[in-house]
Amino acid sequence: MTTVLAIETSCDETAVAIVTKRQVVSSIIASQIPVHQQYGGVVPEVASRQHLETLNQAIAQALAQSQMNWGQIDGIAATCAPGLVGALLVGLTAAKTLAMVHNKPFVGVHHLEGHIHATYLSDRNLNPPFLSLLVSGGHTSLIYVKDCGMYETLGETRDDAAGEAFDKVARLLKLGYPGGPVIDKLAQTGNPQAFGLPEGKISLPNGGFHPYDASFSGLKTAVLRLVQQFEQQGQGIPVADIVASFQDTVARSLTKRAIACALDYGLETIAVGGGVAANSGLRNHLQIAGAKHNLRVLFPPMKFCTDNAAMIGCAASEHLSRGHTSPLTLGVHSRLPL
Ligand code: KG4
Ligand code: ZN
Repeated sequence: MTTVLAIETSCDETAVAIVTKRQVVSSIIASQIPVHQQYGGVVPEVASRQHLETLNQAIAQALAQSQMNWGQIDGIAATCAPGLVGALLVGLTAAKTLAMVHNKPFVGVHHLEGHIHATYLSDRNLNPPFLSLLVSGGHTSLIYVKDCGMYETLGETRDDAAGEAFDKVARLLKLGYPGGPVIDKLAQTGNPQAFGLPEGKISLPNGGFHPYDASFSGLKTAVLRLVQQFEQQGQGIPVADIVASFQDTVARSLTKRAIACALDYGLETIAVGGGVAANSGLRNHLQIAGAKHNLRVLFPPMKFCTDNAAMIGCAASEHLSRGHTSPLTLGVHSRLPL
């Protein structure tokens, strides 16, 4: 049994969880979203300050909820990269201190490795190899998961991440932050075929298109042009139809690339992770296309799609059970490839 207390503070959630292998014993997610909403996005200094104010209480709550004591914890983990440096430092320093005080092994976890492991929390029998479609506010990648700690990135976005596109489109339509959940809800009342929007293909020198890489900045600009057109004509903006068409385009683009990649590499399972894995349009498109091609499509539990510490604990538990630990000198990195 490998029980880990894990801390995640890479962005705007102060999260602490206790995980035994692939089982969540307790999970606390103190969201800072209401604090950042007034600024229309995450303010790094405010995020660090909030983590400092909330973290000790979140650790105490996670322990109390688990009804465990320190003697039952086998290791301490924290996200070490990528993310906001000040925010990461708060969680990493707390984890290293706890490891030192309680004489436990320490594991630093890459945030994306956490999102990949979130699917284990809904499907405990999942094992590599599989394809991870990682779609968050900062990343959009297709990752060949060969084993725990062995990853190959096969495709990625050339500009905006999928979640970033949701947030930017929501901002230009004045729908608030974060954009994903509000667009998802509104899109259900609109017509996804109302507007033809560009899917964002990446051209290759041979005249073809990259099969796995994506681009979302052109799509965002197309939405902006559409909004400007309606404004110039003095008409009301059909917001629901616009966001439904936008969401459908993102979902189709990601589905097409993930299915092509899984088939080309002979992978039978696609495990989706990251905040955009919560998107109903993406879930629908991927499930339908997966069934058509005989592929298994798996998603994390809804609450573990967006940032949380359970996924970090799950990844750390896998590492600890293989004897992998990190030195207490480990630092944080704002950018770090997987
Ligand atoms: O994984 P995450 O919590 O943080 C990062 O690691 O970036 O992802 C946050 C992103 C935001 O861009 C948010 O708008 C998006 O995930 N998101 C969604 C949905 N829920 C969250 N995007 C589309 N549909 C959703 N239901
Ligand atoms: Zn994340």
